[in-house]
Amino acid sequence: MALVKVRELLDAADKANSSIIAFDAGDYNMIQALVTAADEAKKPLIIMLYPLMRDIFSFGAFAATVKNLASRAKYPIGLHLDHCQDYRVLMEAIRDGFPSIMADGSMLPFDQNVAFTAKVVETAHAFGVDVEAELGHVGQASNTGDYSNRDLFTLPDEAARFAEITKIDSLAVSFGSAHGFYKTTPNLDIERLQEINKATDVPLVLHGGSGIPSDQLEKAFTNGINKFNVGTEFFALNNQKKKEFWSTADPSKSKDEVSFIRKALVDYLVKKLELCRI
Ligand code: 13P
Repeated sequence: MALVKVRELLDAADKANSSIIAFDAGDYNMIQALVTAADEAKKPLIIMLYPLMRDIFSFGAFAATVKNLASRAKYPIGLHLDHCQDYRVLMEAIRDGFPSIMADGSMLPFDQNVAFTAKVVETAHAFGVDVEAELGHVGQASNTGDYSNRDLFTLPDEAARFAEITKIDSLAVSFGSAHGFYKTTPNLDIERLQEINKATDVPLVLHGGSGIPSDQLEKAFTNGINKFNVGTEFFALNNQKKKEFWSTADPSKSKDEVSFIRKALVDYLVKKLELCRI
């Protein structure tokens, strides 16, 4: 099965009243582990790249790698550029083969976020590329206020207006999550999510997936979240296993030792994918 459009995956998740899981990746081994885990878990998933990482994995090489491995996968794989605030860089991602991108104007005032996002959507859609946007800022988990201050949460009526004007394909919303490892257990505002979901037609996206308890995730998935982003947990595990590998193994000697990191990543991913009921 080749690459599948992100919008199609999100629509399938919506029909199943569940969520696709989207993972950030930063090296070949992480991508390979994701494709292997999708097959083992029999689940679709989305592979994402942070734009800043293109200095170590170019857009073109990343997109080509995901497409190549996805062509041999049995379950649908999506490809997406995560958080990007720069119009030019977004256009470069389209040029270099990304079929889905995130135009992140969440730090801008509402009107400027609308203008920035609508401009990206106009061009992206001309090339058949999907666009995710963000409204109500999802901050950093190292700062408790970023995920507990309800003033930062997305307003349902603004979300409805934003989606209608910009014609986005999906919307990342703020209702109690943040990026990175949480200082305290987060408490997702499911009521706010329900209100946003009622007010809008677009698939909703939950960012800051590392460390949210499973029972809260299940509730979010049945109340409008169709894409769930995970980064920190996966990168931390990859880094930890790389350290262990280089301190104990001799990669020149055994194939088993070389696959040590990938096995740990696949085990983690297969377990995580149990959350996805598609
Ligand atoms: P975490 O790094 O907190 O898992 O969040 C990932 C994310 O939301 C990427 O967009």
